[in-house]
Amino acid sequence: TDPDPLQDFCVADLNATFSVNGYPCKPISQVTSEDFFFDGLSKEGNTSNIFGIGVTLGNVQTFPGLNTLGISMNRADFAPGGVNPPHTHPRATESGVVIKGKVLVGFVTTDNVLYSKVLTAGQMFVIPRGLVHFQLNVGPGKALILVAFNSQLPGIALVPTSLFATTPPVQNQVLTKAFQVGDEVINVIKSKFGA
Ligand code: GLV
Ligand code: MN
Repeated sequence: TDPDPLQDFCVADLNATFSVNGYPCKPISQVTSEDFFFDGLSKEGNTSNIFGIGVTLGNVQTFPGLNTLGISMNRADFAPGGVNPPHTHPRATESGVVIKGKVLVGFVTTDNVLYSKVLTAGQMFVIPRGLVHFQLNVGPGKALILVAFNSQLPGIALVPTSLFATTPPVQNQVLTKAFQVGDEVINVIKSKFGA
């Protein structure tokens, strides 16, 4: 859903001193084959965190050759029991494939209907643009998925941190009313994210 390109390519100059919607192109005289290849997804991501998930981003900011081309990929590694918590990508539809393991994939519509399925290696899924979704490793070992987006920079809004780990914090009066619980419950959740 990104805008269409106006030339064959526009390798991003990430250090430009001015900003535009996207990134300006680096001079074509400086473009090499290396600009169109990226090995950042070749290594297992670090899953030593509270969610047991390591997401490695292959977007325009890590792979500048994607600039203006409306596409990007992530690699997500899961420890046993690891979860990619509910999140949305405001600028892209996501499609992915399980490479290893057994993964519960689900998304929720704007009418609060959940669509989900357990997938194994080779099986593919799609997450319509902007909808809240998650993946949970339900197998006995590690899991690995690769996902693609129709945006060079889909954006990630993680639901737990968007509510409980912001700077400055979302006011407890908002969260206690929204979740129909007391301050103590909100404070416990905030404390899990270092607040
Ligand atoms: C998976 O949902 C991802 O966004 O990496
Ligand atoms: Mn996603």
